[in-house]
Amino acid sequence: RSGARIERLPLARFTTLGVGGEAEVWFVGNHEQLAEALEQPYRVLGGGSNLVVADEGVPERVIRLTGPLAEADLTPDPELSDAETVVTGWVGGGVPLPGLIRKLQKLGLSNLEGTVGIPAQVGGAVWMNAGTRYGEMFGGLHTLEIVTPGGTRQVTPDELDWGYRRSGLSRGHVVSRVRLKLRRSDPEEVRARMDFADQARKGQPKMKTPGCAFKNPGGVSAGRLIDEAGLKGTRIGGALIAPEHGNFIVNLGGASSRDVHALLDLIRERVGVPLELEYELWP
Ligand code: FAD
Ligand code: EPU
Repeated sequence: RSGARIERLPLARFTTLGVGGEAEVWFVGNHEQLAEALEQPYRVLGGGSNLVVADEGVPERVIRLTGPLAEADLTPDPELSDAETVVTGWVGGGVPLPGLIRKLQKLGLSNLEGTVGIPAQVGGAVWMNAGTRYGEMFGGLHTLEIVTPGGTRQVTPDELDWGYRRSGLSRGHVVSRVRLKLRRSDPEEVRARMDFADQARKGQPKMKTPGCAFKNPGGVSAGRLIDEAGLKGTRIGGALIAPEHGNFIVNLGGASSRDVHALLDLIRERVGVPLELEYELWP
Protein backbone atom coordinates (compact mmCIF):
# COMPACT_ATOMS: atom_id res chain seq x y z
CA ARG A 1 0.00 0.00 0.00
CA SER A 2 2.71 2.47 1.00
CA GLY A 3 4.91 1.31 -1.88
CA ALA A 4 7.76 -0.24 0.11
CA ARG A 5 9.79 -2.72 -1.98
CA ILE A 6 9.60 -6.19 -0.45
CA GLU A 7 11.89 -9.08 -1.44
CA ARG A 8 12.91 -12.47 0.02
CA LEU A 9 16.69 -12.34 0.14
CA PRO A 10 19.59 -14.16 1.82
CA LEU A 11 20.79 -12.02 4.72
CA ALA A 12 24.36 -13.26 4.20
CA ARG A 13 24.49 -10.67 1.43
CA PHE A 14 23.84 -7.88 3.97
CA THR A 15 26.24 -8.93 6.75
CA THR A 16 29.97 -8.30 6.98
CA LEU A 17 30.39 -11.89 8.28
CA GLY A 18 28.71 -13.19 5.12
CA VAL A 19 26.50 -15.64 7.03
CA GLY A 20 22.70 -15.83 7.27
CA GLY A 21 19.64 -17.38 5.61
CA GLU A 22 16.64 -15.76 4.00
CA ALA A 23 14.13 -13.26 5.27
CA GLU A 24 11.54 -10.90 3.84
CA VAL A 25 13.42 -7.64 3.43
CA TRP A 26 11.44 -4.39 3.42
CA PHE A 27 13.25 -1.50 1.75
CA VAL A 28 11.65 1.58 3.26
CA GLY A 29 12.38 5.07 1.97
CA ASN A 30 9.97 7.27 3.93
CA HIS A 31 7.98 7.47 7.14
CA GLU A 32 4.79 6.11 5.60
CA GLN A 33 6.57 2.98 4.36
CA LEU A 34 8.30 2.61 7.71
CA ALA A 35 4.99 2.81 9.58
CA GLU A 36 3.54 0.05 7.39
CA ALA A 37 6.62 -2.13 7.89
CA LEU A 38 6.22 -1.84 11.68
CA GLU A 39 2.68 -3.27 11.61
CA GLN A 40 4.00 -6.87 11.93
CA PRO A 41 6.96 -8.32 13.92
CA TYR A 42 10.19 -6.88 12.55
CA ARG A 43 13.92 -6.51 12.95
CA VAL A 44 15.99 -3.54 11.84
CA LEU A 45 19.03 -4.10 9.65
CA GLY A 46 21.77 -1.50 9.40
CA GLY A 47 25.19 -2.20 7.92
CA GLY A 48 25.00 -5.79 9.19
CA SER A 49 28.41 -5.28 10.77
CA ASN A 50 27.54 -6.62 14.22
CA LEU A 51 25.28 -9.51 13.27
CA VAL A 52 25.46 -13.30 13.36
CA VAL A 53 22.33 -14.39 11.46
CA ALA A 54 21.21 -18.03 11.62
CA ASP A 55 21.58 -20.16 8.49
CA GLU A 56 17.79 -20.68 8.72
CA GLY A 57 17.21 -16.93 8.41
CA VAL A 58 14.64 -15.11 10.56
CA PRO A 59 10.82 -15.28 10.50
CA GLU A 60 10.29 -11.55 11.09
CA ARG A 61 10.36 -8.96 8.34
CA VAL A 62 13.71 -7.22 8.11
CA ILE A 63 13.67 -3.45 7.64
CA ARG A 64 16.33 -1.67 5.64
CA LEU A 65 16.34 2.14 5.33
CA THR A 66 16.88 3.50 1.79
CA GLY A 67 16.17 6.58 -0.34
CA PRO A 68 15.74 9.79 1.68
CA LEU A 69 16.26 7.79 4.89
CA ALA A 70 19.76 7.00 3.60
CA GLU A 71 20.67 10.58 2.68
CA ALA A 72 22.48 13.24 4.73
CA ASP A 73 21.67 16.97 4.85
CA LEU A 74 24.82 18.46 6.39
CA THR A 75 23.76 22.08 5.90
CA PRO A 76 24.29 24.01 9.15
CA ASP A 77 21.01 25.06 10.77
CA PRO A 78 21.37 28.87 10.94
CA GLU A 79 19.39 29.12 14.20
CA LEU A 80 21.34 26.46 16.08
CA SER A 81 24.84 26.97 14.63
CA ASP A 82 27.42 29.63 15.50
CA ALA A 83 31.12 30.36 15.04
CA GLU A 84 32.15 27.22 16.97
CA THR A 85 29.27 24.78 16.63
CA VAL A 86 27.33 23.34 13.72
CA VAL A 87 24.00 21.58 14.09
CA THR A 88 23.21 19.82 10.80
CA GLY A 89 19.97 19.03 9.05
CA TRP A 90 18.65 15.45 9.15
CA VAL A 91 20.99 12.53 8.50
CA GLY A 92 19.14 9.30 7.61
CA GLY A 93 19.63 6.19 9.73
CA GLY A 94 20.53 4.32 6.53
CA VAL A 95 23.52 6.54 5.70
CA PRO A 96 26.80 4.54 5.61
CA LEU A 97 28.99 5.83 8.43
CA PRO A 98 32.42 5.61 6.67
CA GLY A 99 31.35 7.94 3.83
CA LEU A 100 29.79 10.37 6.31
CA ILE A 101 33.01 10.51 8.33
CA ARG A 102 35.01 11.32 5.17
CA LYS A 103 32.57 14.10 4.23
CA LEU A 104 32.71 15.65 7.72
CA GLN A 105 36.51 15.61 7.56
CA LYS A 106 36.48 17.51 4.26
CA LEU A 107 34.04 20.06 5.71
CA GLY A 108 36.26 20.53 8.76
CA LEU A 109 33.55 19.30 11.13
CA SER A 110 34.82 17.47 14.20
CA ASN A 111 33.41 15.15 16.93
CA LEU A 112 32.86 11.91 15.04
CA GLU A 113 36.28 11.24 13.45
CA GLY A 114 37.14 8.79 16.27
CA THR A 115 34.59 6.37 14.79
CA VAL A 116 36.66 5.99 11.61
CA GLY A 117 36.75 2.44 10.28
CA ILE A 118 33.41 1.29 11.72
CA PRO A 119 31.53 -0.24 8.75
CA ALA A 120 28.07 0.57 10.14
CA GLN A 121 25.11 2.66 9.09
CA VAL A 122 24.34 5.75 11.15
CA GLY A 123 21.21 4.16 12.71
CA GLY A 124 23.01 0.99 13.79
CA ALA A 125 26.01 2.92 15.08
CA VAL A 126 23.72 5.18 17.13
CA TRP A 127 21.65 2.25 18.36
CA MET A 128 24.67 0.75 20.10
CA ASN A 129 26.73 3.92 20.47
CA ALA A 130 29.56 2.45 18.41
CA GLY A 131 32.96 3.95 19.02
CA THR A 132 36.60 3.57 19.85
CA ARG A 133 38.73 5.00 22.60
CA TYR A 134 39.02 8.13 20.41
CA GLY A 135 35.32 8.89 20.18
CA GLU A 136 31.81 7.51 19.98
CA MET A 137 28.54 8.31 18.19
CA PHE A 138 26.97 10.07 21.17
CA GLY A 139 29.86 12.55 21.06
CA GLY A 140 28.25 14.10 17.97
CA LEU A 141 24.47 13.85 18.34
CA HIS A 142 22.03 16.73 18.72
CA THR A 143 18.63 15.06 18.20
CA LEU A 144 17.46 11.52 17.46
CA GLU A 145 14.23 10.69 15.67
CA ILE A 146 12.87 7.38 16.92
CA VAL A 147 10.06 5.43 15.25
CA THR A 148 8.11 2.63 16.93
CA PRO A 149 4.74 1.02 16.11
CA GLY A 150 3.32 3.67 18.48
CA GLY A 151 4.57 6.60 16.39
CA THR A 152 7.47 8.98 15.86
CA ARG A 153 9.18 11.09 18.51
CA GLN A 154 12.33 13.17 18.88
CA VAL A 155 14.71 12.77 21.81
CA THR A 156 17.96 14.41 22.84
CA PRO A 157 20.97 12.43 24.11
CA ASP A 158 20.49 13.70 27.69
CA GLU A 159 17.12 11.92 27.81
CA LEU A 160 18.79 8.55 27.21
CA ASP A 161 20.85 6.32 29.52
CA TRP A 162 23.76 5.91 27.11
CA GLY A 163 27.26 4.63 27.80
CA TYR A 164 29.96 2.29 26.48
CA ARG A 165 28.40 0.45 23.51
CA ARG A 166 24.91 1.36 24.79
CA SER A 167 22.40 4.01 23.64
CA GLY A 168 19.65 3.34 26.17
CA LEU A 169 17.23 2.67 23.27
CA SER A 170 15.26 -0.57 23.30
CA ARG A 171 15.29 -3.23 20.62
CA GLY A 172 12.83 -2.29 17.91
CA HIS A 173 13.24 1.45 18.41
CA VAL A 174 14.09 2.51 14.87
CA VAL A 175 16.63 5.33 14.58
CA SER A 176 15.13 6.83 11.43
CA ARG A 177 17.17 10.06 11.35
CA VAL A 178 19.49 12.10 13.52
CA ARG A 179 20.81 15.65 13.60
CA LEU A 180 24.51 15.99 14.33
CA LYS A 181 26.20 18.44 16.67
CA LEU A 182 29.73 19.18 15.44
CA ARG A 183 32.61 21.48 16.20
CA ARG A 184 34.10 23.66 13.48
CA SER A 185 37.71 22.69 13.01
CA ASP A 186 40.49 22.67 10.44
CA PRO A 187 40.03 19.84 7.90
CA GLU A 188 43.71 18.85 8.26
CA GLU A 189 43.37 18.64 12.05
CA VAL A 190 40.30 16.44 11.68
CA ARG A 191 42.22 14.27 9.22
CA ALA A 192 45.15 13.93 11.62
CA ARG A 193 42.86 12.79 14.47
CA MET A 194 41.10 10.41 12.08
CA ASP A 195 44.40 8.89 10.93
CA PHE A 196 45.54 8.55 14.54
CA ALA A 197 42.34 6.69 15.51
CA ASP A 198 42.73 4.49 12.45
CA GLN A 199 46.21 3.39 13.60
CA ALA A 200 44.55 1.42 16.41
CA ARG A 201 43.02 -0.84 13.73
CA LYS A 202 46.32 -2.01 12.29
CA GLY A 203 46.19 -5.23 14.29
CA GLN A 204 42.61 -6.07 13.29
CA PRO A 205 41.93 -8.82 10.74
CA LYS A 206 40.95 -7.88 7.19
CA MET A 207 38.67 -10.88 6.57
CA LYS A 208 34.86 -11.19 6.73
CA THR A 209 33.91 -10.51 10.35
CA PRO A 210 31.31 -8.75 12.53
CA GLY A 211 34.06 -6.98 14.52
CA CYS A 212 34.63 -7.65 18.22
CA ALA A 213 32.62 -10.56 19.64
CA PHE A 214 32.52 -9.43 23.27
CA LYS A 215 32.45 -6.09 25.07
CA ASN A 216 35.55 -5.28 27.08
CA PRO A 217 34.81 -6.29 30.69
CA GLY A 218 35.67 -3.44 33.04
CA GLY A 219 37.86 -1.77 30.46
CA VAL A 220 40.12 -4.83 29.99
CA SER A 221 40.55 -5.94 26.37
CA ALA A 222 38.42 -9.07 25.86
CA GLY A 223 40.75 -9.81 22.95
CA ARG A 224 43.66 -9.92 25.30
CA LEU A 225 41.81 -12.31 27.68
CA ILE A 226 40.95 -14.61 24.76
CA ASP A 227 44.57 -14.41 23.63
CA GLU A 228 45.84 -15.26 27.13
CA ALA A 229 43.48 -18.27 27.19
CA GLY A 230 45.42 -19.54 24.18
CA LEU A 231 42.44 -19.48 21.84
CA LYS A 232 43.71 -17.37 18.91
CA GLY A 233 43.78 -19.44 15.72
CA THR A 234 41.14 -21.90 16.97
CA ARG A 235 38.97 -23.06 14.08
CA ILE A 236 35.55 -24.70 14.07
CA GLY A 237 34.23 -25.52 10.60
CA GLY A 238 34.59 -22.39 8.51
CA ALA A 239 34.92 -19.98 11.45
CA LEU A 240 38.19 -18.93 13.06
CA ILE A 241 39.27 -16.90 16.09
CA ALA A 242 41.53 -14.45 14.29
CA PRO A 243 45.25 -15.01 14.84
CA GLU A 244 45.66 -11.20 14.67
CA HIS A 245 43.21 -10.31 17.48
CA GLY A 246 41.47 -12.67 19.92
CA ASN A 247 38.14 -10.80 19.96
CA PHE A 248 37.47 -11.12 16.21
CA ILE A 249 35.79 -14.17 14.68
CA VAL A 250 36.32 -14.42 10.93
CA ASN A 251 34.64 -16.40 8.17
CA LEU A 252 37.18 -18.46 6.23
CA GLY A 253 34.50 -19.00 3.56
CA GLY A 254 31.54 -21.31 4.04
CA ALA A 255 31.21 -20.68 7.80
CA SER A 256 27.80 -21.55 9.25
CA SER A 257 26.11 -19.70 12.10
CA ARG A 258 26.55 -22.91 14.14
CA ASP A 259 30.36 -22.70 13.69
CA VAL A 260 30.36 -19.15 15.04
CA HIS A 261 28.09 -20.04 17.98
CA ALA A 262 30.39 -22.95 18.86
CA LEU A 263 33.41 -20.62 18.98
CA LEU A 264 31.51 -18.12 21.15
CA ASP A 265 30.58 -20.96 23.58
CA LEU A 266 34.18 -22.15 23.67
CA ILE A 267 35.46 -18.65 24.50
CA ARG A 268 32.90 -18.24 27.30
CA GLU A 269 33.91 -21.62 28.71
CA ARG A 270 37.66 -20.98 28.62
CA VAL A 271 37.97 -17.32 29.64
CA GLY A 272 37.81 -17.04 33.44
CA VAL A 273 35.83 -13.77 33.47
CA PRO A 274 32.12 -13.42 32.49
CA LEU A 275 31.95 -11.84 29.04
CA GLU A 276 29.02 -9.90 27.60
CA LEU A 277 28.35 -10.50 23.93
CA GLU A 278 28.73 -7.52 21.60
CA TYR A 279 27.58 -9.44 18.48
CA GLU A 280 23.86 -9.67 18.04
CA LEU A 281 22.54 -13.14 17.30
CA TRP A 282 19.51 -13.38 14.95
CA PRO A 283 17.12 -14.91 15.93
P1 FAD B 1 23.71 -3.98 12.33
O1 FAD B 1 24.86 -4.90 12.51
O2 FAD B 1 22.95 -4.08 11.07
O3 FAD B 1 22.70 -4.16 13.57
C1 FAD B 1 23.19 -4.13 14.89
C2 FAD B 1 22.04 -3.73 15.83
O4 FAD B 1 21.64 -2.39 15.52
C3 FAD B 1 20.79 -4.57 15.67
O5 FAD B 1 20.14 -4.65 16.91
C4 FAD B 1 19.94 -3.76 14.72
O6 FAD B 1 18.56 -4.05 14.84
C5 FAD B 1 20.26 -2.36 15.21
N1 FAD B 1 20.03 -1.36 14.17
C6 FAD B 1 20.61 -1.25 12.96
N2 FAD B 1 20.15 -0.16 12.31
C7 FAD B 1 19.25 0.42 13.13
C8 FAD B 1 18.41 1.57 13.04
N3 FAD B 1 18.40 2.37 11.97
N4 FAD B 1 17.61 1.85 14.09
C9 FAD B 1 17.60 1.08 15.20
N5 FAD B 1 18.35 -0.03 15.35
C10 FAD B 1 19.17 -0.34 14.31
N6 FAD B 1 31.99 -1.34 16.71
C11 FAD B 1 32.45 -0.40 17.56
O7 FAD B 1 31.72 0.08 18.41
N7 FAD B 1 33.75 0.04 17.48
C12 FAD B 1 34.61 -0.43 16.55
O8 FAD B 1 35.76 -0.01 16.52
C13 FAD B 1 34.14 -1.40 15.62
N8 FAD B 1 34.95 -1.89 14.67
C14 FAD B 1 34.47 -2.80 13.76
C15 FAD B 1 35.30 -3.24 12.74
C16 FAD B 1 34.84 -4.15 11.80
C17 FAD B 1 35.74 -4.61 10.69
C18 FAD B 1 33.50 -4.63 11.89
C19 FAD B 1 32.96 -5.60 10.88
C20 FAD B 1 32.67 -4.20 12.91
C21 FAD B 1 33.15 -3.29 13.87
N9 FAD B 1 32.33 -2.82 14.91
C22 FAD B 1 32.81 -1.85 15.75
C23 FAD B 1 31.00 -3.40 15.13
C24 FAD B 1 29.84 -2.71 14.36
O9 FAD B 1 30.33 -1.96 13.29
C25 FAD B 1 29.04 -1.82 15.30
O10 FAD B 1 28.44 -2.64 16.27
C26 FAD B 1 27.92 -1.03 14.60
O11 FAD B 1 27.27 -0.21 15.54
C27 FAD B 1 26.88 -1.90 13.92
O12 FAD B 1 26.07 -1.06 13.12
P2 FAD B 1 25.28 -1.62 11.85
O13 FAD B 1 24.63 -0.47 11.18
O14 FAD B 1 26.15 -2.46 11.01
O15 FAD B 1 24.17 -2.48 12.58
N1 EPU C 1 45.64 -7.55 22.93
C1 EPU C 1 46.29 -8.74 23.08
N2 EPU C 1 45.90 -9.80 22.34
C2 EPU C 1 44.87 -9.74 21.45
C3 EPU C 1 44.18 -8.52 21.31
C4 EPU C 1 44.59 -7.43 22.06
O1 EPU C 1 47.23 -8.85 23.88
O2 EPU C 1 44.57 -10.76 20.82
C5 EPU C 1 46.10 -6.37 23.70
C6 EPU C 1 46.75 -5.35 22.77
O3 EPU C 1 48.09 -5.66 22.55
C7 EPU C 1 46.55 -4.06 23.54
C8 EPU C 1 45.23 -4.28 24.28
O4 EPU C 1 45.02 -5.70 24.30
O5 EPU C 1 47.56 -3.89 24.47
C9 EPU C 1 44.06 -3.54 23.62
O6 EPU C 1 43.88 -4.04 22.28
P1 EPU C 1 43.24 -3.14 21.12
O7 EPU C 1 43.98 -1.87 20.99
O8 EPU C 1 43.10 -3.98 19.92
O9 EPU C 1 41.82 -2.73 21.66
P2 EPU C 1 40.62 -3.61 22.18
O10 EPU C 1 40.29 -3.11 23.54
O11 EPU C 1 40.87 -5.06 22.04
C10 EPU C 1 38.77 -1.96 21.35
C11 EPU C 1 37.40 -2.10 20.76
C12 EPU C 1 37.43 -2.14 19.25
C13 EPU C 1 38.12 -0.90 18.72
C14 EPU C 1 39.53 -0.85 19.32
C15 EPU C 1 40.29 0.37 18.87
C16 EPU C 1 35.88 -3.31 22.23
C17 EPU C 1 35.22 -4.60 22.54
N3 EPU C 1 36.75 -3.31 21.23
O12 EPU C 1 39.45 -3.18 21.14
O13 EPU C 1 36.07 -2.13 18.80
O14 EPU C 1 38.18 -0.91 17.32
O15 EPU C 1 39.43 -0.85 20.75
O16 EPU C 1 39.76 1.52 19.46
O17 EPU C 1 35.59 -2.30 22.88
C18 EPU C 1 34.22 -3.52 18.17
O18 EPU C 1 33.61 -3.05 19.13
O19 EPU C 1 33.67 -4.31 17.36
C19 EPU C 1 35.61 -3.14 17.95
C20 EPU C 1 36.33 -3.64 16.96
